[in-house]
Amino acid sequence: MLYGNEALDELGILDGINEVIATTEANGRINAAPIGIIRSENRLYVRLFLGTHTYENVLAKGWFVANITHDAWIFAETALEDLSPKYFTRREDLPVLKDAEAWGLFECQAFASDIIIGDLKPIKGEVIRRDFRAINRGANLVIEASVAATRYLALRTDSYFEELMKMQRIIDRCGGLREREAMDRLMDRVDSFTHMR
Ligand SMILES: Cc1cc2nc3c(=O)[nH]c(=O)nc-3n(C[C@H](O)[C@H](O)[C@H](O)COP(=O)(O)O)c2cc1C
Repeated sequence: MLYGNEALDELGILDGINEVIATTEANGRINAAPIGIIRSENRLYVRLFLGTHTYENVLAKGWFVANITHDAWIFAETALEDLSPKYFTRREDLPVLKDAEAWGLFECQAFASDIIIGDLKPIKGEVIRRDFRAINRGANLVIEASVAATRYLALRTDSYFEELMKMQRIIDRCGGLREREAMDRLMDRVDSFTHMR
C-alpha cells in the first residue's frame, strides 16, 4: 500500500490533468465517471460540475477513489452511462474498478456551488498491475470523443457534433475492435439522448 503525497508519482498521477475514473458511493450504489485530477506544482485539485452523481457523492461523502486505467472503452462507457455492479470490486473495502491498473483514495474538501473546485488529499493507493502498450490514436480519440459527447449533450453546440464525426472516422481507421465498439456505443447514446431531450 502507498500512502500520502509520495503515492502520486507511483500511481502515475503526474503534472497536468490526469484523466481517471472516479468511483464514489451513495446509498449502497457505486457510481463511476471520468474526471480530471489537476496536479500543478504544489496543488492537487478537481473541478466538479453541478448536476452529476460524482458531484453529489463527493459533496456528501468527502472522498472518491481515482481508478487509473488505459482502457478508453471504460471512459466512453462511464461518460454517458452507469456501469453495472459486475465491473466493480472492493479493495480495502473501497469501490474499485475490477480492471483498474492502480487506484488511489482521495479526500476532497468540497463546498456546494455551481462548480466544486476541491483540493485533494491523497490518503492511500495501490498499484495492481503496470500496463504498457504502444500509443493508439484511436484509443486517445475515444477519450476526446467522450469529452466532446458530454459537452455536446450539455450545450448542444453543433461544432462538438462535427468533431465527433471527424473523430469517428479516425477511430475507425486507427482503433482496434474495442475502440471502434466504444465509439459506436458512444454515438448511439448521443443519438438517443439527442432525441430524448
Ligand atoms: C475524459 C473526461 C474527463 C472529464 N472530466 C470531468 C471533470 O473533471 N469534472 C466534471 O465535473 N466532469 C468531467 N467529465 C464529465 C463527466 O464524466 C460526465 O458529466 C459524467 O456523465 C458524470 O457522470 P455521473 O453523473 O455518473 O457522475 C469528464 C468526462 C470525460 C470523458
